[in-house]
Amino acid sequence: MTFNVFSKFLATFTLLGYLTACGGGSGATANTQTPAAPTPLSVASALFAEKALSASGQLACASCHTDDNAHADATGTTLPIGGVNMDQQGFRSSPSLLYLASNTAFRFDANGLPFGGFTWDGRANSRAEQAAGPLLDSTEMANADVAAVARKVRGLSYFNDFVSQFNVPTAATDAQIFEKLQTALQTYQELDPDYLLFNSKFDKVADGTATFTAAEQRGLAIFNSPNQGNCASCHTSRNGPNGERPVFTNFSYAALGLPRNRQIQKNIEDPEFFDMGLCGPKRTDLSARTDLCGQFKVPTLRNIALTAPYFHNASVSTLTEAVSFYATRDIDPGRWYPSVNDKFNDLPVAYRGNVLRTVPFGQQRGDSPLLSLQDVDDLVSFLKTLTDDRTAAPGSPTVAR
Ligand code: HEC
Ligand code: HEC
Repeated sequence: MTFNVFSKFLATFTLLGYLTACGGGSGATANTQTPAAPTPLSVASALFAEKALSASGQLACASCHTDDNAHADATGTTLPIGGVNMDQQGFRSSPSLLYLASNTAFRFDANGLPFGGFTWDGRANSRAEQAAGPLLDSTEMANADVAAVARKVRGLSYFNDFVSQFNVPTAATDAQIFEKLQTALQTYQELDPDYLLFNSKFDKVADGTATFTAAEQRGLAIFNSPNQGNCASCHTSRNGPNGERPVFTNFSYAALGLPRNRQIQKNIEDPEFFDMGLCGPKRTDLSARTDLCGQFKVPTLRNIALTAPYFHNASVSTLTEAVSFYATRDIDPGRWYPSVNDKFNDLPVAYRGNVLRTVPFGQQRGDSPLLSLQDVDDLVSFLKTLTDDRTAAPGSPTVAR
């Protein structure tokens, strides 16, 4: 566990100081107040919310990773829009940025299985490395190059605060400014207490200060059962060896065989276009590993009630539907695919054999369900207990004993 309790404590303390300084005092004295002294967190938060860092001037990191939705897409978004003229649609849903602190660089484990990395296909090895992606992607913040970003950073009213809080060398080159910006954006995600709140109902139940309803309790049992939901085999629900709370992902990869999203512009323009995750096209180093085509990273399920639409291609719009996909993909394929002979239609036919067929999947069409309608409802009730309370203090990252 890389998480450092002290730094979180410090971050909370600093943030409180910052908020008090901004919001404190009476209206009459507001104009004469000295602004709060900058901190790494205050500067980095401003950068995360800074629309001036995009070519359009309209798009910040926070536009696609909104505070209110666990730092995933804003409510009502189908797929994120960006680009110089704000008319380019991306083909992946913006994931929640919360609970990534224990993720690692991308790697293959001793059994040759892929783990870790950032984005849906793990192609960035850290959050700092990842930040370069959206700044330069032509469908996102769409800057022409590193120099264009550096120019925008130098023009910020709080550039001097950025220099002092992130030790930017005097006469820094464009590349150095860009690198410090990447560091700052990672630092923000490390210091803002929202990113590891651990204060959901699930956490309170673990601490013995709340109790599940009967439906939530049934949902958890199904979630953990290897013969029924088997959800916890990927979306880890057990504490770590030292009482570390689970983040509901083991950062592994799987091909679920999701339905093609026919609202994606790229899919409309080109029926031969397929987003295949690990084997490309966004990720380029594993294109020869066709056995990995269709695999995407397991996301956290913490705060999942806040992050619709679901899955990498935003093919499903509600949480109940997302859970129903697991329950009915194989017994009722007509519900998900244009025809029962066209299962897994968001992958080229040659790679459809890669799709996962173990529990909760693997049944035949018309079989009696492993997960009943009631089970799906109970799973959803349980998943709703994973929503944090942003108005309350963070919980401890380990379970109370
Ligand atoms: C136009 C919308 C958009 C903007 C703007 C944007 N992102 Fe993202 N973000 C996404 C999408 C979509 C993904 C998934 C990308 C992929 O899988 O290729 C993502 C992925 C990420 C991830 C990886 C999460 C994980 O689970 O591994 C991080 C971290 C992140 N973004 C941070 C940022 C930062 C920092 C900025 C600002 C520099 C930013 N994003 C700007 C849409 C956006
Ligand atoms: C074999 C591993 C595995 C198992 C088992 C599994 N999942 Fe997932 N889950 C994934 C992966 C991988 C994704 C992302 C897939 C994608 O978008 O291509 C995902 C995505 C999700 C999402 C959408 C998350 C988001 O941010 O969009 C939900 C909800 C979900 N799973 C719930 C469940 C439930 C409930 C179960 C048990 C019934 C379950 N999962 C079992 C691997 C798994």
